[in-house]
Order: sequence, then structure tokens, then C-alpha cells
Amino acid sequence: MASVAPDWDERFRGDEALYGLAPSAFVVDCSLALAHGARVLCLAEGQGRNALALAARGFRVTALDLSATACRQLAARARALNLPLTVRQQDLGLWSAPEAAFDAVIAVYAHMPRLLRRDLHGQIGRALAPGGMVVIEGFRAEQLGRSSGGPRNADWLYSEAELRADFAGFHIDYLATPEVPLDEGRGHQGLGALIRFRARKQG
Ligand SMILES: C[S@@+](CC[C@H](N)C(=O)[O-])C[C@H]1O[C@@H](n2cnc3c(N)ncnc32)[C@H](O)[C@@H]1O
Repeated sequence: MASVAPDWDERFRGDEALYGLAPSAFVVDCSLALAHGARVLCLAEGQGRNALALAARGFRVTALDLSATACRQLAARARALNLPLTVRQQDLGLWSAPEAAFDAVIAVYAHMPRLLRRDLHGQIGRALAPGGMVVIEGFRAEQLGRSSGGPRNADWLYSEAELRADFAGFHIDYLATPEVPLDEGRGHQGLGALIRFRARKQG
């Protein structure tokens, strides 16, 4: 089935924090395992609720997103909060990751078609230094048909099997498929069928 990509610039128009201001609780929890000053890359980071929280905790954060509007908003928030943060507009479908450049890569609701997502997971493996950590949080197939948020196409949703396959060489620290009551801005409201994944690149 053909998928229609959302117009992200249009969605982020205006000053509203579409997915709220609070970072993902899962991301914050995972960040406790990182050393102070660790290099963290946030993919599809949007308006940057996770990137800002991580920068405030002393990590060296880079955020990438497709939407020029969201990147501008994130850079402005970082300036206003006096937080050092690198923000760059990037279509992750065209991204060539720098090798072993990050201690952690975070992807929260980085939904895209399965084939692009598989390539992206390969790029994440390349971007991580040995021992580096990947953290993924998103909607799984059971979210389809719910009104609490997320893509309307099964091909854009995660599964446990794909994460195990895409990160086969990694050590999986955590993999769970919880039902989570979401209260993340106007974008995610209500019970969400999530997947949460944390794994380490073997040294
Ligand atoms: C649901 S939002 C999540 C934003 C952020 N991670 C959060 O949790 O608040 C999805 C984000 O993915 C970005 N995105 C979608 N397709 C992308 C692509 N091909 N390359 C980079 N970013 C993309 C959108 O611009 C949007 O910011």
C-alpha cells in the first residue's frame, strides 16, 4: 500500500509544542547509564523535548530532523535556555552516518516505511562507538486504528522481531511492548501500544 508522508513543517507551524515539553520517561531512564559528557545523537527529534532534556543533563547532544520548522524552533529554544546543542536539518532517508561518532543514539517516534527504517538502523550501528547504546521508542503494529497517535500504515510501525533482526549483533539490555497512557502534547493522547528498546553495540 502506498504511504503518504506527513507534511511535518505544516504540523509544526505555530508555537505549540506538538508532543509536549517533557522528555520521554524511557529516554531519561536510559540516559542514567551514560557517562557525563557522553556524545548523544537524537534522530527525528522534532521540536527537541528529548534533546533539550539531555543537553540540560550535561550530555553533548546533536539533533537531526527533516523539518526545517522544527529545527528552527529547537535551535531557538536551546538558545533561550542557554543550552549547547547542535541542530541540523536532515532527511534520514538520505543520511550517511559518521562512523563511531556517538556514545548513544536516540530515536523516539522515528516512524518511516520499513525499508527506510531498516537502512536507518544500519546507519545507527555505524554511528555508534563500540559499546555505544541505541534507544528506540515508538508505536508497534497494535497501535493501528487507535486515535492516540502514530502512523496510519502498518509498514511504518515497529515490531519486536524487526528490532531483534536489525540489531542482531547488539546486546539487548531491554525490549518491552507496554501499553502506555500517553499525555504528550496534542500529538499523543490516550493509551498507546509502544515498543521500547535499548541495546549496546558490541565492543
Ligand atoms: C512524531 S514526531 C517525533 C518528534 C520527537 N522525536 C518527539 O518524540 O517529540 C516525528 C518526527 O520525525 C521527523 N521525520 C519524519 N520523517 C523523517 C525523515 N525522513 N528524516 C528525518 N526526520 C524525519 C518529523 O519531522 C518529526 O519531527
